Amino acid sequence: MKIIRTVSGMQNIARAAHKNGKTIGLVPTMGALHAGHLSLVNRARKENDVVIVSIFVNPKQFGPNEDYLRYPRPLKKDSAACRKAGVDFIFNPSVKEMYPEGFLTWVKVEKLSDFFCGKHRPGHFRGVTTVVAKLFNITQPDRAYFGEKDFQQLTIVKKMASDLNFPVKIVPCPTLREKDGLAMSSRNSYLKPEERKAAKNIHLSLAGAKRKVKKKKTKSIEELLAELEKNLQSTPGLVNQYINIIKPKTLEEQKHHIQLPARIIYAGHLGKTRLIDNIEIK
Ligand code: PAF
Repeated sequence: MKIIRTVSGMQNIARAAHKNGKTIGLVPTMGALHAGHLSLVNRARKENDVVIVSIFVNPKQFGPNEDYLRYPRPLKKDSAACRKAGVDFIFNPSVKEMYPEGFLTWVKVEKLSDFFCGKHRPGHFRGVTTVVAKLFNITQPDRAYFGEKDFQQLTIVKKMASDLNFPVKIVPCPTLREKDGLAMSSRNSYLKPEERKAAKNIHLSLAGAKRKVKKKKTKSIEELLAELEKNLQSTPGLVNQYINIIKPKTLEEQKHHIQLPARIIYAGHLGKTRLIDNIEIK
C-alpha cells in the first residue's frame, strides 16, 4: 500500500491503471476510520482491481463555528487499518495541494443542498460536492462508495454525478451500528460517557416509529413526528435540530399520510456534538 500526497501522482496512477484495463474503486473519507468506513472498503475491494481511500479533512465543508480544527486525524491508525483491509493507495493531500492559492471554482447541486442539513450548515454541501468532484477527477474511479448514514449527501452526490456525466457508479452502502444501535460516526468519539449512553435513543426512537408504520398502527405523519419528537426530547442532553419524513429519491418532505418507500431523517445535538441518523421504511 502506498500513500500518495500529490494530485499529479494520483492522476498518473489512475491513468496507468485504466490503461492496463483495471477498474478503480474509490472510498472518499475524512479519516478517523471506523468499521462503517471499512465496510465500504471491503465492498470496494470485492468489486474493483484497484482500491483508493482518500483521507482529506476538507475545510470547505465546515462552517466557521464547526469542528474543522478539532476533527480527529489519526493517520497512522487509519493507514494500518487500510493496509489490513487490502487498500492499494491512500490519497492524502494537503489543503494547499487541493486548494492552491487563487482557487475559485465551486460545484453546487441546487435545491437539494439547501434544506435539512444544508439549511443548518450553510455552504456545507457545496464544499462536499466541490471536493468530491475534484476527487473524481483526481482518482478517476469506476465506482465510488458512500454510506447511507449521510443520506442527503449520498443523494446530492448521485445527482451531481448524473448531472455532470461523471463516468462513475455511486454505490450506496448501509449504515453500520454499534451494539446499542448508535450509527457509527467519527464524531461519536467527541461524546462524553453519559452522552454516549443517551445517544442510543436516536436509533431506538427512529426504529420505534418504523415499527409503528410497519404494524400499520398509524399512517399519520403528524402523529409519528409528534411522538418521535417527544421520545427524542426525553433523552438527557439531546436537542433536536430536525426530524422529517421524506421521499427517498427526491428528498421531498412527506405531508399528512406516509407513503412507502419513505425515510425518516434526523439531526440533533448532544452537548457540543452534532449527530445525524436516518431509517428506511419500505
Ligand atoms: O462523508 C464524508 O466523510 C465527507 O463528506 C466526504 C464525502 C469524504 C467529502 O469530504
